Amino acid sequence: MKSAPVPDLCLAVNHLAALVGNTPLVEIRYRFNGQPRRLYAKYESMNMTDSVKDRMALHILRRAAERGELRPGAVIVEASSGNTGISFAAIGRALGHRVRIYMPDWMSQERNLVMHGLGADVVPVSKAQGGFLGAIQMTQEYAAENARAFLPRQFANPDNSEAHELTTGPEIQSQLLQLGRQADAFVAGVGTGGTVMGVGRALRSSGRTVRVHPLEPANSPTLRTGKKVGSHRIQGISDEFIPEILKLAELDAIVDVWDGDAILMAQSLGHRLGLAVGISAGANVIGAMKLVEELGPEATVVTVLCDSNRKYLSTALPQAEPPQDDYVTPQVKLQSFISVR
Ligand SMILES: Cc1ncc(COP(=O)(O)O)c(C=O)c1O
Repeated sequence: MKSAPVPDLCLAVNHLAALVGNTPLVEIRYRFNGQPRRLYAKYESMNMTDSVKDRMALHILRRAAERGELRPGAVIVEASSGNTGISFAAIGRALGHRVRIYMPDWMSQERNLVMHGLGADVVPVSKAQGGFLGAIQMTQEYAAENARAFLPRQFANPDNSEAHELTTGPEIQSQLLQLGRQADAFVAGVGTGGTVMGVGRALRSSGRTVRVHPLEPANSPTLRTGKKVGSHRIQGISDEFIPEILKLAELDAIVDVWDGDAILMAQSLGHRLGLAVGISAGANVIGAMKLVEELGPEATVVTVLCDSNRKYLSTALPQAEPPQDDYVTPQVKLQSFISVR
């Protein structure tokens, strides 16, 4: 039910804004089969809880507070494979709300512990209970029985992509200008699709032709098939269905990346450059490299380093990963990076 905005809540949201967004943009220099190349990436682990999802969580709560949909005493209830839950836990608790997260039980233990550490109630959901789709349904069942529940609905809420249209996209534009560049293409792995849709709209708003590519695991091509197929290890993307806010008709071709290749690239970003990133960031960098090869070495291709490696210490990320013939990482030598803010 809609009612008047709560001024104290709107003010508190504004005070949190200093902790979210305005992340650096890095220019990564590398050789691809011996040839010099560069790509651009937002360093999103410098957000409040170490991931890109803080932008979406803060913006959804801001809009809900402005519309009077988020009231004092509301319980924030969301389905999440980890980062979203952590973002809502931190920002929700900072605003004085209880937070309840339904999370697939095969996600890394670190995610679970971090959410507990932030005072959230975490409800594990098994594959037998319906997995990710089961988790979403449980949030709706909880809301049906609890009048105080507030559902951010990250997969369906346009405020999610708007967060990126208003912050991530414009930051990329002004940071590229500092480097004398303009974006030719953007690529991002799809969890909810908020990042790829919002940044894509912002970059195209100037009227410039910008290619905008969604990315998914080659071993689990949900976007191509419309359903859950196979399995993969890139936590945070490809959650079994096509999200409502993802409009494939507005986007360019889907980019596929093998999960093992993403792990190798994430390891390499840490080992060679000191950029400690998670697996989806490795996938995004490979996606950007594929586009640079397609568009030419002078093209400005941008992506997102979604989070740091810290929530993946118990996963395959720090383990030895065998390279395969069709992987990108073995063809790449990362050399250096510069950053702008
Ligand atoms: C690690 C990681 N990478 C990528 C994404 C995808 O971002 P989006 O939901 O904006 O598509 C997520 C979303 O949860 C994530 O946690």
